[in-house]
Amino acid sequence: MFKFMSLKESIVKEQIPQHIAIIMDGNGRWAKKRGNQRIFGHRNGVNAVRAVTEAAGELGVKYLTLYAFSTENWNRPRPEIEALMSLLVSTINSETDTLLKNGVCLRTIGDTESLPPSVAAKLKEATAKTSGCNGLNLILALNYSSRWEITNAMTRIAKSVLDGQISPANITSETISSHLCTGGIPDPELIIRTSGEYRLSNFLLWQAAYSEFYFTDVLWPDFDKEELYRAIVDFQKRERRFGKISEQL
Ligand code: IPE
Ligand code: IPE
Ligand code: MG
Repeated sequence: MFKFMSLKESIVKEQIPQHIAIIMDGNGRWAKKRGNQRIFGHRNGVNAVRAVTEAAGELGVKYLTLYAFSTENWNRPRPEIEALMSLLVSTINSETDTLLKNGVCLRTIGDTESLPPSVAAKLKEATAKTSGCNGLNLILALNYSSRWEITNAMTRIAKSVLDGQISPANITSETISSHLCTGGIPDPELIIRTSGEYRLSNFLLWQAAYSEFYFTDVLWPDFDKEELYRAIVDFQKRERRFGKISEQL
């Protein structure tokens, strides 16, 4: 009998992106479609996080960055913010053992020190607990925005110049990269955004210089392993030229 190749089977193992970043969007609309409160969508979004983390680990992706809360998200209604913060804490509580078991190293990018103290403490605890893991690096972008990150990097570079540790003539693009929250982490080859929105919303502006973008109408709570495979298969069909022409590759 003729057998169709599954999406997973069509992935070229030798060309798995080492860093995938995802703008998880559409939780609110998912809930609204079901006549529910927005937080119901956020709660169901956790299932997608679990599925994608598992799939990325199984495929051998080294870094998975998930945009979970932007600095602009503080402008949302207060009850939603509070619900999101408590969801974050309860999810970390329930998932840390699984992360440890699967060798997943939890990390964060963003101004996590300015999060509510209980949230910041919980994050610190979970990142310390999993810091010895050497499987997938699961990076949560929390209280993150790229302009905040770049501004912060500029301030620190300026201080080092004043202290005489760096000379302006020696500032390179590596100097800037290494001062960002993602210092030491390779740029994402693939950035995914769900829910049919076509924008970056202040996410990884510097790091996305040569990323491939994948947009899908799927709302985040409906995103699953198959959707991740679909994105990777699509990514693998692209020709990444980095300014060159086809014939040079
Ligand atoms: C993404 O879903 C999750 C966060 C930004 C925290 P949204 O909450 O933005 O859902 P929509 O875009 O309103 O549907
Ligand atoms: C981007 O989603 C931020 C996160 C996914 C955490 P938003 O839903 O906040 O983005 P905008 O406001 O529609 O651009
Ligand atoms: Mg949104």
